Formats: sequence, C-alpha cells, structure tokens
Amino acid sequence: DRQHDGRLPKASMRQLDAALAMLADSLMPTQEEKAAQLQAFEAIRSLLTARYPGARVHLFGSVANGLSVRHNNDLDVCLELGEITADDTAGKGEVAVVVGELMEAAGMSDVLTLPKARVPVVKFVVPRTGTKVDVTVNNLLACINTKLLADYCAIEPRLAPLVALVKHWAKQRAVNDPYRGTLSSYCYVLMCIFLLQTRPVPALPALQQLPPTFRRTVGQWTCEFCDEVESLRGFGAANNESLAELVWAFFEYWAWRHNYSHDVISIRRGACMHKDEKDWTRRIGNERHLVCIEDPFELTHDLGRTVDRQTRAVLHKEFTRAATLLRDAEDPLDALFAPY
Ligand code: CTP
Ligand code: MG
Repeated sequence: DRQHDGRLPKASMRQLDAALAMLADSLMPTQEEKAAQLQAFEAIRSLLTARYPGARVHLFGSVANGLSVRHNNDLDVCLELGEITADDTAGKGEVAVVVGELMEAAGMSDVLTLPKARVPVVKFVVPRTGTKVDVTVNNLLACINTKLLADYCAIEPRLAPLVALVKHWAKQRAVNDPYRGTLSSYCYVLMCIFLLQTRPVPALPALQQLPPTFRRTVGQWTCEFCDEVESLRGFGAANNESLAELVWAFFEYWAWRHNYSHDVISIRRGACMHKDEKDWTRRIGNERHLVCIEDPFELTHDLGRTVDRQTRAVLHKEFTRAATLLRDAEDPLDALFAPY
C-alpha cells in the first residue's frame, strides 16, 4: 500500500509528524545553554578588544542565526579589523597566530591555530563550560550570510525544526564533515532553504530576487537582499506541508530527484541552475563539482566542492537509505537517526 509516487500515506504521516516534532524540540538548545554561550562570547569579546582596541567582534553561525542544535554546535566568532582587507589571507593568518597566543595565555584549552587555511582560524575550548569556539578574522561574508539565514529563519517557522533534524541526521550518519569529503552544517542549511523555496507551493521566497533593502560590499562581492522580514512572515501560509512531509521531501529529493550530473542548487535564485551556467562542468584542481551547492554571495564557491566520487556515493547511499526508511518502515525514526 506504500507506493513511490512522491507522497506517503496520510495516516502514518500524522504519527511520524508528532514524533519528528518532539525530536526537533528536544534538539533545540535551552535558555540556559543559550545564556552560557552568550556569556562565553562576551568573555572572548573582552579578551579580543583588550588586545585590539579598535576592533569589532561579531557572533555568527548557528548560535547567531537561530539554527543551532544542542551539544553539537560551536561558537563562531569574527574579529573585524579595519586595517586588513577582505582578500588579505596572509594578514588574517598573522592575526590568527596572535589570537591563538592570546587565547592560550587566557587559559583556553586545546588551542589550535590554522593560519594558512582558506579562512584562517583559531580553534579552542572554553575550559569550564566545554564550549567549542572558532575565531576567524574579517570573515564578513560569513556575518552577512548569517543574517540572510537568520532572516529566512524568522520568515518561516518550519525552517528551524527541519534544519535541526537534518543536522542531527547528518551528524549521526557521519556525513557532516567537509574535511573528510562530506558536507558542512552550513551546506545542509542551504539545502533546507532551497527545499522550502522549491516546493510546489513555495514555503520561502528567494530574498535575493526581491527588491533589495539590505546592501553590503565585501571585496569583489555585492551582497544584496530583501530583509523586510516582518512583511514576509506570512509568505509560507499557502503551503500546508507538515514537518514530516518536508523531511520526506528533503530525502526524496536528494535520493531520487536531484540530477547530480547537471544541477546546481541556488538559494540566490530559489531554483536549480545548470552546471554549464556556472562553468562547473569539470574538475579544476581539487574542485570536482560532483555535488553543486552555490554560496548565496561568494558565487564562485561551490559548497559541495569537498565531495569526491567515493564520498558522493556515500552521501547518495545515505539519502536513499533515509528516504527508503521513511517510505517503507512502520516506525522509521530509530533507524533513521541510528549512529553510523
Ligand atoms: N560558513 C561559510 N562558508 C562555509 C562554511 C561556513 O560562510 N563553507 C559560515 C556561515 O556563516 C556559517 C558559519 O560559517 O553559518 C558556521 O559554519 P558551520 O559551523 O558549518 O555552520 P553552523 O550552522 O554554525 O553549524 P553548527 O551548528 O554545526 O555549528
Ligand atoms: Mg557553527
């Protein structure tokens, strides 16, 4: 009685929906956890501004955009220095070394400085709370994409629980590690936004296609989008899909509908693009473009570039496993989120 026509039977959907909503709820950080993270941020901000008096310090990533999942999020901190330009990676690396020494001296644990990374970063742990922190320098695009994601989150209340479930699934199934050829949390968030934009009745608009009310330029990139969240809050009302239907649609899309040889996912457009249009048709150096997810602002950045043939097969196997469980299993949740 369960066929693959893009829908699941309504009766099992209701049960599944209640269970998923409960799980998503339990994944949301508590007020105490949020307060502890903000306290850690303020402490780090004080350390940084004591050393760099003219600097601004920003919080970005999931703690700032409302898409964090308990026990598996880090604190993303950006140190903004006026004297370093957006494309000065060497300059950022030198600052990272200084920040690493500063954090070491302040008693942070497990300090690891990566001054030569594409985005130079200092990683450490706040000893008493165990909060993991990443400090980057002049990572302004990340601060702006954090605002974009926060605005999407504020427009559509189903985005945060969908993201929580997908991030939890990806972590459990060991497909959330860009250093090992799978996808970053940020990439999974873009995939969730894209899904909501491209439902038969869209649940999210493409904010970069609306008349811009927010504008910033970072190096060569112009970041423009509509940030009138208040007036867009009812946008998804005509779409009445439940959380379970959206979770099913997410996995069904990546298992059976996405065309891996032609398609590029673009939340900027709110639609698929063709790889030809981006010139992402062949491998250049380490950029393979086997799974293509366009960054909303840094348009040459394919978030799927870390994926190779072997890890694409792993990802596709996991998407298919999830979709098949949702379609066929009586009670799919334990298996769906089982540790790999
Ligand atoms: N980011 C980015 N480009 C990437 C990866 C990350 O611009 N390739 C920025 C985004 O602003 C993102 C932030 O860095 O929100 C943090 O990335 P990440 O930790 O992957 O995402 P989170 O949503 O913070 O995930 P988690 O809850 O697992 O920390
Ligand atoms: Mg993070």
